[in-house]
Amino acid sequence: MTKYVVVGSGIIGLYTTFCLLQHGVDPYQVTVLAEYLPGDESVNYASPYAGGNFSCITDDDPATLAYDKHTYTHLHVLQRELGGPACGLDRYLSTEYWDTKPSRRKLDSLASYLECYEVVTDGPAYGIRFKSWNFNCPFFLLNFQIYLQDKGVRFKRGKLSHIAQAYLADTRCVFNCTGLGAHGLGGVNDTAVYPTRGQVVVVKAPHVTENRMRWGADYATYVIKRPYSNDQLILGGFMHKDNWSGDTFRDQSNDILARTTELFPEILTRNPRGSSIADLEVVRVVAGLRPSRHGGVRIERELVDHNKILVHNYGASGYGYQAGLGMAHEAVRLALMGDSKI
Ligand SMILES: Cc1cc2nc3c(=O)[nH]c(=O)nc-3n(C[C@H](O)[C@H](O)[C@H](O)COP(=O)(O)OP(=O)(O)OC[C@H]3O[C@@H](n4cnc5c(N)ncnc54)[C@H](O)[C@@H]3O)c2cc1C
Ligand SMILES: *[C@@H]1O[C@H](CO)[C@@H](O)[C@H](O)[C@H]1NC(C)=O
Ligand SMILES: *[C@@H]1O[C@H](CO)[C@@H](O)[C@H](O)[C@H]1NC(C)=O
Ligand SMILES: *[C@@H]1O[C@H](CO)[C@@H](O)[C@H](O)[C@H]1NC(C)=O
Ligand SMILES: *[C@@H]1O[C@H](CO)[C@@H](O)[C@H](O)[C@H]1NC(C)=O
Repeated sequence: MTKYVVVGSGIIGLYTTFCLLQHGVDPYQVTVLAEYLPGDESVNYASPYAGGNFSCITDDDPATLAYDKHTYTHLHVLQRELGGPACGLDRYLSTEYWDTKPSRRKLDSLASYLECYEVVTDGPAYGIRFKSWNFNCPFFLLNFQIYLQDKGVRFKRGKLSHIAQAYLADTRCVFNCTGLGAHGLGGVNDTAVYPTRGQVVVVKAPHVTENRMRWGADYATYVIKRPYSNDQLILGGFMHKDNWSGDTFRDQSNDILARTTELFPEILTRNPRGSSIADLEVVRVVAGLRPSRHGGVRIERELVDHNKILVHNYGASGYGYQAGLGMAHEAVRLALMGDSKI
């Protein structure tokens, strides 16, 4: 019996599955179907590569602000269900600077729910400090899958060439959480979907226990603490629009190291191994593709074959972790809407 099929096992598919269960759906009625599953790595699977912080760079349209807020204010439920911070979801202070002051609408929204919120004046044009959520992305995805499996959800590996293949005999509703899966999936090809390439340098830094970032018109510099990771610190980054390359480049790593250590000098000055960039222990360098979409995320319900439901939930770009629980809540609301039989 599989009334619900969730296509995609990235953070958006897992959040969506979690929301279904929170709405009282029987876990044995849910199958997650994906080409890549937690524990896998591929340039076609964005979720393990995310820095995984809650940050304030998202757009300031009302829908995105609402998804961010919903996620921020409900993540503690998920953290508790998964057994506490050791699941790979913990909290650290974060400081963010902007070269130009964000809109009043955005700042008012943030101020209304961020914990320990304060405006800081020691940096560029505008800055705030608050208590963030930090994910250890690959580890968290695995723990999330184990949690859902223990509840009774089935995970199946498979690559679809057409979304129609997702409908099993008794399936009523399919969720399309395929991220960048766009180009490989027949059905309704969404040409608005495009990648935003990022590259990050992961270093070992037990001496840094908070996040710091700076957003400019054409650059993004960020420092993210990864919880329960044996002291990994993520340094980034880049926002390369429409670039499909999963390769990494040394000049970009050097640029990242220069920018992040300028923004957060203590990365070097407090490093027990020495205070130059060469003294930093680089754990790895990775590139990932954020699943972006012109016009923003797509959360929509369609009817297929008269009585079957298809709900789209993709296009989370650089904020799947921080907005995804709110997105999933909306997708599940659309799916269950007016259908008491489900
Ligand atoms: C460098 C970098 C840093 C980032 N930092 C952050 C951050 O700090 N905070 C944050 O919130 N976000 C961050 N992001 C963004 C975040 O990674 C994405 O928003 C999120 O992972 C998107 O999740 P998803 O589930 O939509 O897509 P994905 O994780 O890509 O999952 C897609 C799923 O669909 C499956 N699929 C696709 N097509 C098919 C098919 N045809 N058949 C079967 N299965 C299919 C795939 O196998 C996979 O399971 C970052 C991203 C990058 C690259
Ligand atoms: C921090 O979060 C923002 C928005 O969620 C994201 O774009 C950025 O890439 C993240 N930083 C890292 C290191 O992943
Ligand atoms: C599912 O989502 C992808 C984007 O990830 C999109 O390109 C595709 O058209 C969607 N499938 C259907 C059947 O709409
Ligand atoms: C849609 O995607 C399928 C599968 O990749 C492809 O064969 C087809 O040409 C695409 N259609 C359009 C209009 O791009
Ligand atoms: C993609 O980005 C890489 C790294 O910055 C660069 O070398 C390459 O030329 C880019 N490709 C395109 C098509 O822009």
